[in-house]
Amino acid sequence: MADTERHPFLQGLSKHRGAPPTVVVIFGASGDLTARKLIPAIYNLSFDNLLPADFHLVGYGRKPIPDEEFRGIAAAAVKEFSRREMDPEVWKRVAANTTYVSGGYDEKAGFDRLAAHIKDIEKGVGSEVQSLFYISTPPSVFFPIIQNLGASGLGGRYLGKPHHSKVIIEKPFGKDLDSAKALNAELRSVFQENQVYRIDHYLGKETVQDLLVQRFANSIFEPIWNRNYIDSVQITVAEDQGVGTRAGYYEQSGCLRDMIQNHTTQLLALTAMEPPGSFEAEALRDEKVKLLKAIEPVALGPDPDMARAQYAAGMIGGKKVPGYLEEKGIAPNSSTETYAALRLSINNWRWQGVPFYLRSGKRLPRRVSEIAIQFKRPPGTIFPQKEGFNLAANTLSFQIQPDEGLSLILNAKVPGLDTRTQPVKMSFRYATTFGSNTPEAYERLVLDAMIGDGTLFIRGDEAETSWALYTPVLNFWQSQGRKGVESYSAGAWGPEGGDQLLTSRGHVWRQP
Ligand code: BG6
Repeated sequence: MADTERHPFLQGLSKHRGAPPTVVVIFGASGDLTARKLIPAIYNLSFDNLLPADFHLVGYGRKPIPDEEFRGIAAAAVKEFSRREMDPEVWKRVAANTTYVSGGYDEKAGFDRLAAHIKDIEKGVGSEVQSLFYISTPPSVFFPIIQNLGASGLGGRYLGKPHHSKVIIEKPFGKDLDSAKALNAELRSVFQENQVYRIDHYLGKETVQDLLVQRFANSIFEPIWNRNYIDSVQITVAEDQGVGTRAGYYEQSGCLRDMIQNHTTQLLALTAMEPPGSFEAEALRDEKVKLLKAIEPVALGPDPDMARAQYAAGMIGGKKVPGYLEEKGIAPNSSTETYAALRLSINNWRWQGVPFYLRSGKRLPRRVSEIAIQFKRPPGTIFPQKEGFNLAANTLSFQIQPDEGLSLILNAKVPGLDTRTQPVKMSFRYATTFGSNTPEAYERLVLDAMIGDGTLFIRGDEAETSWALYTPVLNFWQSQGRKGVESYSAGAWGPEGGDQLLTSRGHVWRQP
């Protein structure tokens, strides 16, 4: 049964959004992200009839791979990683137009071959075809790819028309402010800003988009969405996984770069920004940038606004796991943080005096991302403070994942002939209301880029503004080496320093 039959809310979706004939070229075609996310996303878009009739997929990579073999690799990726079972009929449609071009990333001739291949596809289609270049490689080859897209003329195809070339660029978008500026400059030497789609896959998550709907399609929130009613905000992006097989990347990155600068900060921006004038890309991104610019510099000491730590050996899901420094590929004296927490202040009328607490970490007790808005307590209480009177602060929490939904903590009367109170939770669960087969983030993002909608992508100045906030912290940490790197047992909710950020202001982390 099609999803639309099961869930009436999904009906009509495919009719509203359409992309022109498109060739998607994936650089880094044999990489992990391609197999886990990109190919399954394309398969699922095809399943939902959201791909244009003339859709072509081209893998590009250094390794010579015959077309047939690439189709086999792609099919295996769908079988292993797609949220839906492989439907042979749907896959046949995608596979028929899937090909592979081999070439180096710094080899202009390879890009010329790619250009000729796209021309051949166009001849077959019989009309102009938009090209969408997906850079899903390690950052070390971002520059040569961008340069060769320029040199081969691929980057400038159909400029001035809606189906001009587009480029999607994966994270990490730089490693600090200077490198982000350099990458932006490189992109701008070949592309115009409206051709560039910088990925933050959190923006593709249904619940992250729902945050906008909740805030701006309901009238009850706006009057209380400010310092008069809100006491503090906590944003948690926790994972139970360790560094896994990504030691090489993670050692150079750490939690602040990997999770806070992008995903967690995006959650903050969407929670705290002013209502945009429209749901257009520029209107929304203008508001996010404005908000990011209003964040005060992070205090580095003596009462610092940040904490960092590494996980030590501990227990996750009843199993013993090694500490970060014992993981394969990690330097025994590494100072890379696997946990980071921040206390941010926003200097504007809406948020003056409301602390925003952010934390993220690996090897925390469970995978959970949430935004919790804690409201002020009533001014005094008419209820006696005695046993049986349990009153909690009203808290609205957006569960980004898993168990996606929204809940509100209220205080209620316990039924009985005496007046006793107890906090209760009012919940909305996505899976219960809409069914659980929601699209993955990459489906939405690939489709939006094909359509030319940049709303859920990061603008160049936005990336730089976010790096401007965190680069002083990164520089400070680097200057300190291992000094100040705390430790927490795997399976615990982070180090003491992370708790102190809150306790010193009379708050505590909630248990998500
Ligand atoms: C990636 C990070 O951007 O996001 C990973 O590099 C992290 O370290 C991942 O595990 C988390 O994504 P998600 O969608 O599983 O929350």
